[in-house]
Amino acid sequence: MALPMPIPGAVVLHRPWRLRTPTRPYKLSHSHLGVATVRASSLHSPASNSYASPFCPEVAEAARVLLPEFMEIDGLVATNINRVLNAFSNARVGSHHFSGTTGYGHNDAGGREALDLAFADIVGSEAAIVRSQLFSGTHSIACALYAALRPGGELLAVAGAPYDTLEEVIGLRGSPRHGSLKEFGVSYRELPLHVDGGLDWNALETAIKPETQCALIQRSCGYSWRKTLTVAEIERAIILIKAQNPDCVVLVDNCYGEFVETVEPTAVGADLMAGSLIKNPGGTIAPCGGYIAGKREWVEAAAARLSAPGIGMESGSTSGDVMRLLFQGLFLAPQMVGESIKGGKSRLSH
Ligand SMILES: Cc1ncc(COP(=O)(O)O)c(C=O)c1O
Repeated sequence: MALPMPIPGAVVLHRPWRLRTPTRPYKLSHSHLGVATVRASSLHSPASNSYASPFCPEVAEAARVLLPEFMEIDGLVATNINRVLNAFSNARVGSHHFSGTTGYGHNDAGGREALDLAFADIVGSEAAIVRSQLFSGTHSIACALYAALRPGGELLAVAGAPYDTLEEVIGLRGSPRHGSLKEFGVSYRELPLHVDGGLDWNALETAIKPETQCALIQRSCGYSWRKTLTVAEIERAIILIKAQNPDCVVLVDNCYGEFVETVEPTAVGADLMAGSLIKNPGGTIAPCGGYIAGKREWVEAAAARLSAPGIGMESGSTSGDVMRLLFQGLFLAPQMVGESIKGGKSRLSH
């Protein structure tokens, strides 16, 4: 079978700001180098017109070299801030949503539903749950795995070994009788990464077996020395998996992936995607929480793992203090992610 290639136009769509990249080299001003110069006429005191750069020459030089890349990241941030603002506007987010919700009433007017709605809009999914009761990324991913897998089924990790906290969920190690997937009769297989650190496309072409109920794709490298997958690569993997079995649920571990591009895996066909608010989408201020987004039927099933079958997505209390920080963190997230990417590039350039 021929490998489906990402549509060339889609790449441009993912990075629309590229179109605005200047064709000639950007000229660095003094303020970019950390030497702010203020017009004498506006200060009346020529002696206080400038201050020394707070940066050592090596850092200033690294910033100069990286300026074109920083400009591209600024474009990414602006595009993603727009995504968030549009979603907040569509969900009609207002100050009344910051007061929290008790969890007693179903479909109550608190921020819970508005936050779910806005989040689903941002990530291009049918539904989402964003909950303070999701302890972490591992907890969110585990709820999604238990939603997609049933006894006799198989979990296939497509991008090599998953993040190590998932080993106990899968049953590769850990305490007996804690209810790992293995204890519930779910088998596990791993597709090793290609020698180039990316997905093994040839192996993936025939990897899905009839019993493979769920394919797990870890987007970010986590803390290992592998490649981080682009959303275009994830889309290509989803097409390959669905071509073999359209019913195989594709779950993306999106931890540390949010807002690194302008689209998320749920917008390109992932059935489920899970992550933590203590990472990117919490904008550094969310004090707790996680999310699960994707096709409605699978998000509902994952919500039933968080709570109980029958309770659904329409419950769960969140105090006003926390609710406001979840909204505020999501608003700040694109900016914070942009700064982190810049920091990472600066370290690499050293
Ligand atoms: C790629 C990836 N997946 C999953 C996790 C687990 O998230 P948590 O530590 O919030 O449980 C991490 C944590 O860093 C991660 O990097």
